Amino acid sequence: MPLTRKAYRAAILHSIADPAEVGIEASYEYFEDGLLVVENGRISALGHASELLPGLPAGVQVEHYPNALITPGFIDTHIHLPQTGMVGAYGEQLLDWLNTYTFPCESQFADPDHANEVADIFIKELLRNGTTTALVFGSVHPQSVNAFFAAAEKLDLRMIAGKVMMDRNAPDYLTDTAESGYQESKALIERWHGKGRLHYAVTPRFAPTSTPEQLTLAGQLLTEYPDLYMQTHISENLQEIQWVKELFPERKGYLDVYDHYQLLGERSVFAHGVHLCDDECARLAETGSAVAFCPTSNFFLGSGLFNLPMAEKHKLNVGLGTDVGGGTSFSLLQTLNEAYKVMQLQGARLSPFKSLYLATLGGARALRLEDKIGTLHPGTDADFLVLDYHATPLLSYRLKQANSIAETLFVLMTLGDDRTVLQTFAAGRQVHQR
Ligand code: GUN
Ligand code: ZN
Repeated sequence: MPLTRKAYRAAILHSIADPAEVGIEASYEYFEDGLLVVENGRISALGHASELLPGLPAGVQVEHYPNALITPGFIDTHIHLPQTGMVGAYGEQLLDWLNTYTFPCESQFADPDHANEVADIFIKELLRNGTTTALVFGSVHPQSVNAFFAAAEKLDLRMIAGKVMMDRNAPDYLTDTAESGYQESKALIERWHGKGRLHYAVTPRFAPTSTPEQLTLAGQLLTEYPDLYMQTHISENLQEIQWVKELFPERKGYLDVYDHYQLLGERSVFAHGVHLCDDECARLAETGSAVAFCPTSNFFLGSGLFNLPMAEKHKLNVGLGTDVGGGTSFSLLQTLNEAYKVMQLQGARLSPFKSLYLATLGGARALRLEDKIGTLHPGTDADFLVLDYHATPLLSYRLKQANSIAETLFVLMTLGDDRTVLQTFAAGRQVHQR
């Protein structure tokens, strides 16, 4: 394959560590006039334009963005493909919302044409919003995952997804069985896991919709294949937690159900965790599991406020999730806008650099992919964004008053959304242009 090399000149910012561990100043690198060099889908150099430009071989094209910020692509650690058509469904909290809106909407994925159509819309929406990697719930139907992976593969995206396993407490039209859920997951793993930049996640929906037999088989899949992911929901809503107690009276608590079936581990991501206790955070951290913080969803469904300081105290890996369609936006910028308010309501702060970390490197760490995505370090995948300082008249005017990259970043996260994302690149290829 011939060498393809291209360079991008702009203000460049990336997170290189968790501010909770190293302090804010050591957590990022910023180049006011930076250069990012991309070769064959990977980043080959990052630095000050003045230092790198003279050494750039003649003929390498340099794209210059005088009014933009280059960052790593965003990482969404929790989102539902089959809920694209029901974002913003009125009036209910989790359990009624699932029965009233979610299950009927997901049932449409029995039709492969529908699955293909929504997968295209969904991936375009991710890329329009600057999300280059997502951990995705399909529906119970294998075709939801086939449609998603086929669309992601065409663009060489780094994506993780799985077919929902649920064999009880859901309508008959939307359940599998312990055995069929296992076999269908296995077939999808054989077909997709490790193909290009695609990874499979074993996906029991949440404890109430799986029998002990199904949870056992989910755990078995994780031992049968190396490097599989596991994704599920935990402790999102108080009624849900009460229901889990009734269904699994022999277990110590919600997390202990998943622990018992050996679903915790370094590639396990638990969505929400709004009502986790100290011991549960400690156990999640001890097993290397991660939590997806989903603020727009937790507000929209009235679930509660995620306790990020408690997670930090336990050194628990936390990524950010939109949780569409419980969440109300595909935009991780808008998700960070709401995350800031979650902290404010608890008397805490969310610094813009911690926010950047959560949307990029923190997500990559939650997914154990920090050697491939989440930063702009040379050697990693060239998944990056060009964020436009002039995306809207208000943003443009507001940023004129910004005196530091910290302030610029915070304003981008407060006023920004899909309009802010001028271009999205994945494996060095432009996959979105506003
Ligand atoms: N718990 C179980 N299923 C779901 C879902 O689809 N969305 C959310 N937010 N929580 C869940
Ligand atoms: Zn969810």
